[in-house]
Amino acid sequence: MSLYFCRNFITHINKKLKIMSKVTVVGAGNVGATCANVLAFNEVADEVVMLDVKEGVSEGKAMDMMQTAQLLGFDTTIVGCTNDYEKTANSDVIVITSGIPRKPGMTREELIGVNAGIVKTVAENALKYSPNAILVVISNPMDTMTYLALKSLGLPKNRVIGMGGALDSSRFKYFLSQALGCNANEVEGMVIGGHGDTTMIPLARLATYKGQPVSTLLSEEKLNEVVASTMVGGATLTKLLGTSAWYAPGAAGAYVVESIIHNQKKMIPCSVLLEGEYGESDLCIGVPVILGKNGIEKIVALELTADEKEKFAASAKAVHGTNAALKEVGAL
Ligand SMILES: NC(=O)c1ccc[n+]([C@@H]2O[C@H](COP(=O)([O-])OP(=O)(O)OC[C@H]3O[C@@H](n4cnc5c(N)ncnc54)[C@H](O)[C@@H]3O)[C@@H](O)[C@H]2O)c1
Repeated sequence: MSLYFCRNFITHINKKLKIMSKVTVVGAGNVGATCANVLAFNEVADEVVMLDVKEGVSEGKAMDMMQTAQLLGFDTTIVGCTNDYEKTANSDVIVITSGIPRKPGMTREELIGVNAGIVKTVAENALKYSPNAILVVISNPMDTMTYLALKSLGLPKNRVIGMGGALDSSRFKYFLSQALGCNANEVEGMVIGGHGDTTMIPLARLATYKGQPVSTLLSEEKLNEVVASTMVGGATLTKLLGTSAWYAPGAAGAYVVESIIHNQKKMIPCSVLLEGEYGESDLCIGVPVILGKNGIEKIVALELTADEKEKFAASAKAVHGTNAALKEVGAL
């Protein structure tokens, strides 16, 4: 029996039994559409719904993507809709990308006033139709938007996940591979802390190339350069593009969703509620977690050095500061 036949047969049985996986992406802009496209291309879910406020845009993008299905050979159905939350019903995962992106010179934190209202409203609307869904928040300032969604919706903490660390870690691995002159897939590395230019913490000490610590392969000066490039990775692209980047952010969102939908149990740094872990509480910030069908299956406790602990505490303080603005804008 061919693999193709087997896959079609299983899809057919799942459809009969209605064991379908469904992901909604709210916001069909640069990041949302890229995320939906990667989810479909990789057949992460049977159905991907894109929802946007702009009349016709998500419908048009969905049709355009569906017209690549035969060329690329995927079976996922992509549906676009304008503000019709009924179409998102029974989603397993809801990805929130709606909101404004930053322009050159802006920080992610400056987006809070506009994005807080959007994130809260869309999350409430989407959950009405998918009460058991897991939320993946991408809109910026991401750590604060994740905290807002968690606090305002009253969901259990395993079901609210902020995506930032997957992207920052991928950027870290890219810059490491450039410095080492090697394939990015052969590099391991992780970025924890807040998802901000000054708050993220690329863990150079733990980065490896094929099991060898990169600190033994690169000079301290070069490694510092890699860390600095990673931290301003988003700002560098925003300056070049005139708006914030989308290919890697969209793909990183899909990577997080895949680990949940396929119960892959991957360890991915994500923004999650801390309740004493890493010495912090009452904030969402990036730490390594195991992602599976229940969302956050486990928060992984890394043994940090005194210097890393200090950086993490400073990062948490900055995120607390941004969270405080939620009250000022009347979102919490
Ligand atoms: N967490 C990360 O790693 C990361 C990375 C990149 C971008 N981002 C953030 O993701 C967000 C989206 O970025 P983008 O580049 O796709 O922006 P974009 O402007 O291209 O797309 C945003 C979309 O949201 C839609 N939208 C606005 N209000 C809405 C609502 N109430 N309901 C439904 N849709 C609504 C807009 O119509 C637009 O199509 C920004 O906040 C950006 O800062 C986060």
